[in-house]
Amino acid sequence: MPAVMPKSPSQTTLASSSSSSSSSPTQSSSQSRLTQISTHIAPMAATAFDASAVPQAPEDPLFGLMAAYRRDTDSNKVDLGIGAYRDNNAKPWILPVVKKADEILRNDPDLNHEYLPIAGLADFTSASQKLVLGGDSPAIKEKRVTSLQTISGTGAVHLGALFLAKFYKTKTERLVLFSDPTWANHFQIFSNVGLQYKTYPYFSKKTKGLDFDGMIGTIRDAPEGSIIVLHACAHNPTGVDPTQDQWKKIAEVIRSKKHFPFFDTAYQGFASGDLARDGWAIRYFVEQGFELCIAQSYAKNFGLYGERAGCFHFVTSPSSDAEETIKRIASQLAILQRSEISNPPAYGARIASTVLNDPKLFAEWEANLREMSGRIKEMRTALRSKLEEMGTPGTWNHITDQIGMFSFTGLTEQQVLKIREDAHVYMTKNGRISMAGLNTHNVEYFAKAVDKVVRETQ
Ligand SMILES: Cc1ncc(COP(=O)(O)O)c(C=O)c1O
Repeated sequence: MPAVMPKSPSQTTLASSSSSSSSSPTQSSSQSRLTQISTHIAPMAATAFDASAVPQAPEDPLFGLMAAYRRDTDSNKVDLGIGAYRDNNAKPWILPVVKKADEILRNDPDLNHEYLPIAGLADFTSASQKLVLGGDSPAIKEKRVTSLQTISGTGAVHLGALFLAKFYKTKTERLVLFSDPTWANHFQIFSNVGLQYKTYPYFSKKTKGLDFDGMIGTIRDAPEGSIIVLHACAHNPTGVDPTQDQWKKIAEVIRSKKHFPFFDTAYQGFASGDLARDGWAIRYFVEQGFELCIAQSYAKNFGLYGERAGCFHFVTSPSSDAEETIKRIASQLAILQRSEISNPPAYGARIASTVLNDPKLFAEWEANLREMSGRIKEMRTALRSKLEEMGTPGTWNHITDQIGMFSFTGLTEQQVLKIREDAHVYMTKNGRISMAGLNTHNVEYFAKAVDKVVRETQ
């Protein structure tokens, strides 16, 4: 079937005569009927992308949830869906240090809107390396790292996945392993570049903590050289992280199977309020000499969600030709970047760079991070104690044991839907809540809604 069907003479005539004001009522009704028929037929014949070629895709569940929340007119509605920080009045929060950096940039007479280089703003990428690897990282000193500015964390995951799809060869089946559950976009990003994936167990429904044995066993059994995607901290969606001892054991197994670690870090500093603590796992792996890659996002820790500031880092292992290896890798990454986005967007990276490269602003940023993570921790404590005070059936220690933006409440899909219906509380179907959506005004309301739904559905 041709992609474009030419209009028939009768269609052309119908289109022009139907706009004429001099036609009689009978003429115009038969014409409009004919127009209806022809417009009904024409689009069907005029596309190469019918439903068998391009089936209707479902709406993104998270963005769909946001839209449903916006439509809800109930005054008590609570949004615990999207992972974006909110202040105690449920409002988006511009970090004070970001406001300052914005002011500095706007007053800079030399600022222009020229293209950035393909790899992005050099001051930003070098500061990002130091942030994620530590200022005194031997990998940086030995020039074993290459970094490209990306379209936030999503772009960094994508660039890494694309690079691996093109250049990473394994002796047997090439596989990517994600935690079960994981950030839903991992599946789409890696499969879009043609990589096969499986999952490793991660969350124990019983303890609402880490299923460490399941995780380590599956990673051990995976084909040698598998790509293991790891959340550096504040695991999304569970809020459950391995302990430092567990990370050491994970590193041992990954080394023994010659797997390739791929770290996704979207919450450094946002999780605990301490940049070094949240960056510990990555720094440990690099210290152990792993070759790995890192996708870094500045959406949450700078509140630069829509500005799309992120960075992709490739770190190679120490060796006499590491610098030459990294130069080759950097050259190929630059080609991939050029063909995908040409060069990254400037504004968000300039904001982050202004802060990261100024010791005084950096210290203010750390204080802002402590404020966000501190408020979230307070909400965890408040929610847990309210549930325990009411004697809500079940255990609730996981609310304070989990860390970061999200908590995996343990509520079932049925309970999630009921709580939306009855109390206008919006959360994802897997029972995940964004802790940042809770505040001193709504935490009790939410706790009562949970208590009610748990009792009613026991
Ligand atoms: C685990 C994880 N990776 C990556 C991202 C990327 O986010 P962004 O593209 O907004 O930086 C997110 C955001 O929710 C995330 O949770």
